[in-house]
Amino acid sequence: MSTRKAFRGTLVDFTDDPRAAAGALRHIEDGLLVVNDGRVESIGPAAAGLAALPAGTPVADHSGSLILPGFIDAHVHYAQTDVIASHGKQLLDWLTDYTFPAEGRFADAAHAAMVAEFFLDEILKNGTTTAAVFPTVHPQSVDAFFSAAQKRGLRMIAGKVMMDVNAPDPVRDEAEQSYADSKALIERWHGRDRLLYAVTPRFAATSTERQLQLAGQLLDEHPGMHMQTHLAENHDEIKWVAELFPWSKSYLGIYEKFGLVRENALYAHSIHLSEADWQTMARAGAAAVHCPTSNLFLGSGLFNLDAANASGTAVALATDVGGGTSFSMLRTMHEAYKVAQMGHRPFTSLDGFYLATLGGARSLGLADKIGNFNPGKEADFIVLSPKATPLIERRYGLATDIAQKLFVMMMLGDERAVAATYILGEPARRPTI
Ligand code: GUN
Ligand code: ZN
Repeated sequence: MSTRKAFRGTLVDFTDDPRAAAGALRHIEDGLLVVNDGRVESIGPAAAGLAALPAGTPVADHSGSLILPGFIDAHVHYAQTDVIASHGKQLLDWLTDYTFPAEGRFADAAHAAMVAEFFLDEILKNGTTTAAVFPTVHPQSVDAFFSAAQKRGLRMIAGKVMMDVNAPDPVRDEAEQSYADSKALIERWHGRDRLLYAVTPRFAATSTERQLQLAGQLLDEHPGMHMQTHLAENHDEIKWVAELFPWSKSYLGIYEKFGLVRENALYAHSIHLSEADWQTMARAGAAAVHCPTSNLFLGSGLFNLDAANASGTAVALATDVGGGTSFSMLRTMHEAYKVAQMGHRPFTSLDGFYLATLGGARSLGLADKIGNFNPGKEADFIVLSPKATPLIERRYGLATDIAQKLFVMMMLGDERAVAATYILGEPARRPTI
């Protein structure tokens, strides 16, 4: 039995990076998205699409609203949900004073399961349908996250945090054990339904060389997995890492030595990088993950999107909650604009929406599955309402083209603007069983 459904509204997606290709924005003012068996079957103008639909096909009418691919949050810590909005510290003190104590609670599987559900409710409400997620060092925190995501049919990436030094007991593991635990989790979860495993050494400062080596080994032993970590976020962190690894010419060089700079490797922050680092990232096919709300909140610095682009390094956008201050990718685009302004660099609404959709999918190596409305892609998509608030409605009404309309949504929008989130063509919902 076919499960064909159609969705009418203003379709907006990208076929390429708008910085690289003039016609990359695809915009169909009165469009029809047709989904069959959870995948995109076709997109096009509504008039022709409706005429071609088999009789009896249900049509959800979102006319007047925008229909976009679901947002991709390429770096977020579900286990830091309760850390959001913790006042007054920069990175290293923030980790010690707020984050490690909060993560310690994830030894309790029931706590992990409860936070995983809350987190997924939040991100789905905000229109995020795929994320690269940090649980904690505790394997049960990974099981809790993946089982919650699996029940909702989500495409998610996560992996056990590896952290065997310079961290308090409740959140520290041991190199060989972290390898064995990761391996068991990979076997349990990687490639199951829409779930993918990421080998997750937290950052160079909290791993011994042995652990980093084992992280590289895991990646070699299981092709197709992701790697996620933090890189060059904060000056005190960079200085500390240089003291811990005196043999390395650069922060990135540590990860490189252990085979962690490669395709499907996600480097959160990547703020304070040299030209040589950018070249290394690009050559290896690794991706930089821009986390603007976090970088501003923790006072870490200003990401240089132009330098990343000039090197050819893929870039994704992320909330980095709980260093980040919002689960909303609209707010994250908003702050990315301000970061670019502070650096006197351009940043358009097309840049923002591209990074949060197809740019994220490309950085995650998932552009064959998600990120735009090409036929065959998984039908995770959202509806953004220009009537979300009186101010948005008023300002949106004054916008004269789609780029301006998207800019209004990204500067004024948040979860209130997300009228609906669909997973594989069905409204996202919390499972009752
Ligand atoms: N560096 C190492 N761990 C973390 C973390 O949890 N958040 C951020 N923002 N940076 C990190
Ligand atoms: Zn992070």
